Amino acid sequence: MDHFELRDGALYAENVAVAEIARQHGTPCFVYSRATLERHYRAFDEALSGVDHQVCYAVKANSNLAVLDVLARLGAGFDIVSGGELERVLRAGGDAGKVVFSGVGKTADEMRTALQAGIFCFNVESAFELEQLDAVARSLGTRAPIALRVNPDVDAGTHPYISTGLKNNKFGVDIATAERLYAQAAGMDGIEVAGVASHIGSQLLEIRPLLDALDRVLALVERLAARGIVLRHIDCGGGLGVRYKDERPPEPRDWASAIKAKLAGRGLRVLTEPGRAIAGNAGILVTRVLGIKHGEEKSFAIVDAAMNDLLRPTLYQAWMDIVPVQPRDGKVHRYDVVGPVCESGDWIGRERDLAIDAGDLLAVRTAGAYGFVMASNYNTRARAAELMVDGDRVHVVRARETLDDLMRGEARLP
Ligand code: LLP
Repeated sequence: MDHFELRDGALYAENVAVAEIARQHGTPCFVYSRATLERHYRAFDEALSGVDHQVCYAVKANSNLAVLDVLARLGAGFDIVSGGELERVLRAGGDAGKVVFSGVGKTADEMRTALQAGIFCFNVESAFELEQLDAVARSLGTRAPIALRVNPDVDAGTHPYISTGLKNNKFGVDIATAERLYAQAAGMDGIEVAGVASHIGSQLLEIRPLLDALDRVLALVERLAARGIVLRHIDCGGGLGVRYKDERPPEPRDWASAIKAKLAGRGLRVLTEPGRAIAGNAGILVTRVLGIKHGEEKSFAIVDAAMNDLLRPTLYQAWMDIVPVQPRDGKVHRYDVVGPVCESGDWIGRERDLAIDAGDLLAVRTAGAYGFVMASNYNTRARAAELMVDGDRVHVVRARETLDDLMRGEARLP
């Protein structure tokens, strides 16, 4: 459930008319709903009540400082994949002690910064990372808490670009390797073995693969315990899907009750790293129709947002819902909704039936996750403004970029 709805024939974000936001702040713009973010975070937090747990929001999904701030205030932890994301968490008032650091290519500098900040855990993804982290921690006279990210080799049944738990993915280490690395890690002076992590993919629409992965990870936990390596926590990763069209993703409470059953009596603290399920439906992209163009075979609605603003459709052939902000009566026509970027792949939606005219506003739904964060400046297009609605107030949480912003740091030859 989200807080974007049609009211009296117009789209509202909480208590604010989206058309009014567009009038004041221009288009394209991303509009986020604080109440929706809070609702989704709480859905995970409450679903895990009764077990020792920490919800670590995956910062990559939407790393705007205001989004992180809203979640930090609720007690969220954070899953980060770079030193940059750590800096964002700290600037947003997040607690370093609730941060897990994932990613296959952490640099020594990033390791040092994260150790000095006192993060909760490094999710280590390879033997070379373990050795480097050990060395960095020893050079600082400390021990780095680690979980190995294991790759349980289950098929998450999602798009190949966002599936991460198969043998041929670059992520994590296979279970046999993990067992060997844990034994090695237990003997390292700069390493403190703390837990185990797995993340099998994103936009998952079934719980089954997550449970299969958990079974394999728990079998590993038992084998390690038998060897005297006792883990304190298990990080189940993120990945629960959202509804873009007609999907029926599992609810956090269904997922949580299934995993609680498997974890009962094991004394393991549970971590989870949801990104999309928290931020996805908490944001929309608002764009204006620049004009209508009827080609011989197709009609195009050319809008002021483009693939540089929202990459998911062209990168993953992702279907994202496009709705008029102020629906009008009139003839419905079939359009490809495309942007101004000079690429045939620059489309936001294909074959959409819409009653629209030049000047109308459209909203792309479920654009709160992997939306702005994947934006670029291709074609020297300034990135869109980001706004957060909180009840009847609208806050600019990232100003629209200016051309000076875009060219900062560039220079002509002397
Ligand atoms: N934890 C780890 C280690 C991850 O790699 C990811 C996502 C998450 C958590 C959060 O997954 P979520 O709950 O959001 O599914 N750009 C793609 C999605 C890439 C996801 C990458 N990893 C998209 O737009 O669909």
